[in-house]
Amino acid sequence: MKYRKFLAAGAGAALAFTLAACSGGGAGDTDSSAEPTGDGGAMTEGGTIGVAMPTQTSERWIADGDAVKTGLEEAGFEVDLQFAADDIPTQSQQIDNMITNGVKALIIAAIDGTALSGQLQAAADAGIPVISYDRLIRDSANVDFYVTFDNYEVGVQQATSLLVGLGVLNADGSEGDAAGPFNVELFAGSLDDNNAHFFYSGAMDTLQPYIDSGVLVVPSGQMDIEQVATLRWQQETAQKRMEDLLTANYVGSDKKVDGVLSPYDGLSRGIITALQNNGYSGTTADGFPIVSGQDAEIASVKLIADGIQFSTIFKDTRKLAAQAVTAASAYLNGEEPEANDTETYDNGVKVVPSYLLESDIVYADNIQSLLVDSGYWTEEEVASGVAS
Ligand code: BGC
Repeated sequence: MKYRKFLAAGAGAALAFTLAACSGGGAGDTDSSAEPTGDGGAMTEGGTIGVAMPTQTSERWIADGDAVKTGLEEAGFEVDLQFAADDIPTQSQQIDNMITNGVKALIIAAIDGTALSGQLQAAADAGIPVISYDRLIRDSANVDFYVTFDNYEVGVQQATSLLVGLGVLNADGSEGDAAGPFNVELFAGSLDDNNAHFFYSGAMDTLQPYIDSGVLVVPSGQMDIEQVATLRWQQETAQKRMEDLLTANYVGSDKKVDGVLSPYDGLSRGIITALQNNGYSGTTADGFPIVSGQDAEIASVKLIADGIQFSTIFKDTRKLAAQAVTAASAYLNGEEPEANDTETYDNGVKVVPSYLLESDIVYADNIQSLLVDSGYWTEEEVASGVAS
């Protein structure tokens, strides 16, 4: 561990950090304060912390960026927040600049988890602690801490919600009445995102027994993660693949899609569009295919309220941001952040001490209790499908 270096890095940053758990604007905030500052900002007593987020095309990362920035500022730091438009060289460059500008710590949600070894070596050489945010940075000894959700469990929840939608399971997890066979198709995220593998293995461990028993059938036969992956988590890519799957396996036969495992709301919306373009209509109550999701993006929450998308997984970005702030503050106070998992996340070089948070399955009937009552989205936002 580079504990001593952190002590050095933290010298002069002996603020008494009271960590208000990211009480800033709502999760849906997309105001321009999230825009990159580009210059590293002026140093305050706490110093500047670099925050590298992957993209602003998905609202979760905007919310993450806002919440981390607010939390760090409340803890007495300046923040250099950058988004990289899902472009790997851009993100590498942004992190290089942060290091050159003398940030005291880095919080990074990587685009490609294997592409930052050079930057992380430079950070280590400069004594800068690195916190991997939500996505594990791989193939580097210089990742100091990881804050994330229980990603395997997220996959279990995605598959569980698909089974609940089909009636194979009841919402309480007990066996339902439906025996199938049901036609399902499977999607995974971007192969360069470590999370995609955890989500898919959690999902497939849950679905495989039903595939083996014939309750679920995958007409395309595409089940390997390489076959079902979606580069950069792109909505259009998922829509195109769903259209191709329909053309190749369903159109012209009496086969119908009953359900789709989707690991992210953006993909879910692409999949739903492809289904609608191919004659599937109405709501899940009328037989529209069951489509899962992730992130509780507002457009998908509305689709769930309207009975079109069946479920999503809520990962409270405010809580994740608060953990990242806690970890960064610990390092700059010369302490080690507290991990609650020191076994699961091997990045290829070492097991990275992690703090894992829990996620929840969102169905139409718990949007209010999970998302509105917690202040994540307002009733108006759910009704309009647009973040205000
Ligand atoms: C995150 C998910 C998100 C996906 C696409 C993953 O690394 O964990 O929450 O849906 O990236 O942005």
